[in-house]
Amino acid sequence: MLCEKYRSQLRWVIYQIYPRSFMDSNGDGIGDLNGITGKLDYLKDLGVNAVWLCPCYKSPNDDNGYDISDYRDIMDEFGTMEDMDALIAALHARDMKLIMDLVPNHTSTSHPWFQESRKGKDNPYSDFYYWFDEIPNDWEACFRGSAWEYDPVRGQYYLHSFAISQADLNWNNPAVVKAMQDTVDFWVDKGVDGFRIDVIDMISKDFSTNANGFGPRLHEFIHDLFGRKKTAHLFTVGESGVQDIDEMIRHCAAERNELSTLFLFDHMECGRTGKFTPRPDTLKSLRDYLVHWQQETEKHDLLHSLFIENHDQTPIISRIGNDREKRYESATDIAAMVYLLKGIPFIYQGQEIGMTGAHYDSIDVFDDIESINYYRDFCKTMSPEEALAKINFGSRDNARHPMAWNGGENGGFSTGKPWIVLHSRYQEINVEKDLASGRSVYRFYQALLALRKANDVFLDGKMDVLSAPEDPYFVFTRTLGTEKWVVVCNFEEEQKIELPFSCEAPVLANLKRPSADGVYAPYECAAAKVLL
Ligand code: GLC
Ligand code: CA
Repeated sequence: MLCEKYRSQLRWVIYQIYPRSFMDSNGDGIGDLNGITGKLDYLKDLGVNAVWLCPCYKSPNDDNGYDISDYRDIMDEFGTMEDMDALIAALHARDMKLIMDLVPNHTSTSHPWFQESRKGKDNPYSDFYYWFDEIPNDWEACFRGSAWEYDPVRGQYYLHSFAISQADLNWNNPAVVKAMQDTVDFWVDKGVDGFRIDVIDMISKDFSTNANGFGPRLHEFIHDLFGRKKTAHLFTVGESGVQDIDEMIRHCAAERNELSTLFLFDHMECGRTGKFTPRPDTLKSLRDYLVHWQQETEKHDLLHSLFIENHDQTPIISRIGNDREKRYESATDIAAMVYLLKGIPFIYQGQEIGMTGAHYDSIDVFDDIESINYYRDFCKTMSPEEALAKINFGSRDNARHPMAWNGGENGGFSTGKPWIVLHSRYQEINVEKDLASGRSVYRFYQALLALRKANDVFLDGKMDVLSAPEDPYFVFTRTLGTEKWVVVCNFEEEQKIELPFSCEAPVLANLKRPSADGVYAPYECAAAKVLL
């Protein structure tokens, strides 16, 4: 049985916004807080009751806000603190929650803490970062190159797990822990309801190992942040490289007072080897990961997070679905596979209209620091065309193009020139067109979320898998008391799927056709109540 706090958080449906690309309210080509406030009814209609904002804090934007220079102020391009207060009020007026992105592992090197720290060993901020005379190991940065950078001002090396301008904070210094607690409390006092915590597994390090993260004090630090009375009510989800259930239990078991849940990434590797290399994968492997984690989290009374896209990933239908002829079918089929399981749904902007990956003929239109650095390295061993194909497949920009609200000028995102090129398919795939079509991905998501909301069986009900591992489809039931529902999700091929019981007519289905014969079209899905 889930604890009471987790049971209530299970009712949250979270929509992730990349503020820079969601809606521009003042025509400068950059999405902003007022743009988000203006779209809350669109989200409410979808069935969402919480919003997670990627970082909105002051930042030089080398990594689009994940390089923070002031945790307590709003990025100029996004608006003001008054705009943030208004957004929080507008959310709460609609009974919606706000989740902020907390980035505790690193700051921008333009943060005053770093500017002070680099001045020398006598400075009060001297130990806010990791400084070494000699590089202590050969760790690499996630955005390529060495994770160590020489700072000529201080005459020492500092650690940066990501860009050179993102210096890792030294959590072994109690003043850093205190500063981050104060940051959390500042936003709690503003009324935020939860946090998504960036690379939480990296805040404790052991320099003698060959991997950055999961250091010996990780759980102590998480507890320092969220195990306090002031933070006990929050919803917290950590971005983490956790790969086994025991480790997840240590993070998320209710009695540990650490995190509500984690974003795990096993299933995100479906369809590729590393970020930039496609592999012929199928929905089968997605299903197997989903089943594995569903069963484990259920067994151990953990709160599970259901997500398949975010701002770092190419949309799923371009990774393992069919983003051309069967775009609607595969987008909705995958939604049923994932979001009728037990856990908190996270929906990334654009996912609700079946947005796909983009395609460009030149590296010049890419903005993402990771993509650009990888392209440069790829070009050392392959042709520019091959390198560009990899970037087109895996670039984080695939998820960062302006939200396509309509097929008109700038996709309805802005009256000015957008900060990044429009999605290459925005005229074909946009909100206006989706809503007007008889095959609307948005309407399917809306119906799915309404079904979850109306039937507790989709929240609390036990999940049982009916399909066998070799079956090219996914069939599962959810059972609560005397109520049982079945969900059938077919994969790529048409086939007959027989059920061991009879059902009422489907309440949710992506194809409107009589399927009483048990033959399912490619990517067809349906959810129905079982007749007991
Ligand atoms: C996380 C974020 C990513 C960011 C990185 C560094 O992985 O999701 O966007 O670049 O952390 O903060
Ligand atoms: Ca703007």
